[in-house]
Amino acid sequence: MDIEFVRSRFIKHFDGKTGNIYASPGRINLIGEHTDYNGGFVFPGAVDKGIMAEMRPNGTESTIRAYSIDLKDRVDFDFHDGQGPRASWARYIYGITLEMEKLGVPVKGYNIAFAGDVPLGAGMSSSAAMESCFACGLNDLFGDNKVSKWDMVLAGQATEHNYCGVNCGIMDQFASVFGQAGKLMRLDCRSREFEYFPFNPQGYKLVLLNSCVKHELAGSPYNDRRNSCENVVKHIAAKHPEGKFETLRDCTWEQLEEVRQEVGEEDYKRAHFVLGEKDRVLAVCDALVAGDYETVGKKMYETHEGLSKEYEVSCEELDFLNDIAKECGVTGSRIMGGGFGGCTINLVKDELYEPFIKTACQKYFEKYGKAPKVYDVVISDGSRKIC
Ligand code: GLA
Repeated sequence: MDIEFVRSRFIKHFDGKTGNIYASPGRINLIGEHTDYNGGFVFPGAVDKGIMAEMRPNGTESTIRAYSIDLKDRVDFDFHDGQGPRASWARYIYGITLEMEKLGVPVKGYNIAFAGDVPLGAGMSSSAAMESCFACGLNDLFGDNKVSKWDMVLAGQATEHNYCGVNCGIMDQFASVFGQAGKLMRLDCRSREFEYFPFNPQGYKLVLLNSCVKHELAGSPYNDRRNSCENVVKHIAAKHPEGKFETLRDCTWEQLEEVRQEVGEEDYKRAHFVLGEKDRVLAVCDALVAGDYETVGKKMYETHEGLSKEYEVSCEELDFLNDIAKECGVTGSRIMGGGFGGCTINLVKDELYEPFIKTACQKYFEKYGKAPKVYDVVISDGSRKIC
């Protein structure tokens, strides 16, 4: 992203002064989908696409003057007025400001202009990139950088829950804040322990194909999926008063079978996917350490199958892209992120890369009248101050 471009807009739309520039990335996730809010494991990494913001205190008590460079939209609001702005992009600014304030940061009024090159609605967590970018800026401008990285992650997640209507887990904000170039991270979402895994598979590439079906999590069946999982946990806990059941992470296959009738087939299938996905992340980590990319790929296909048939967060276009990957002999392919549109992530041998992309673009175009967008994955650093 272009620093000079963001700066020129900031100068133009406000009082001619410059501020500080911050950047935060979107993310990929190799495997471990819908496991974060179930206390399971995820395996994300930050990417070289994200959000960049210029920010500067404006001398007011609590007036935010915000400009979205991409949307060419300006919104001014008082973050203490109790309502906040209506524009959905500005709600991220409003929410993170209040959440950082809750963490003890003495935020005052500020000007902000921002732009992004992480595609919106592609399942690469453009919203987490915004939250962590703004959190990083507020921490630096008003908080002497005293707020810890984990607290910024949680402030981003709370912004989604409290101001944007998405009851998401912590994977996206975690990846955006903690990302490191060339490394994936295996996070245990229950204990919050994590490990960096250097990721540079010799002879393979990771590539995303964006179906260009816009994925929208707010007010979507995303929250329903989460409710299903929580419902299953509730039923299992009621049957086992001696145990401690907080999330599906605490539940076994046998316990799931015990409540199958009472929770109904839909919730059962969803929970069934989550238990399998937890095991798959661990299997993929072992396979990566052993350099066994065939197993990594096999697990990715299994995840796709589960997300499509059991968790039901796929769509026709994503299934079509997955089928093409299989036909082309791609090692692994699956829906990435929340689902309901967005991208597939593909692990493909170097020599198959060109023919795969060509076939996928051609066939997708023939069927849907548009080509998927292709993004090569470059695993990059997390939130930071640029200047
Ligand atoms: C979205 C959410 C994450 C996670 C994924 C699915 O990206 O923001 O918390 O649940 O979906 O793995």
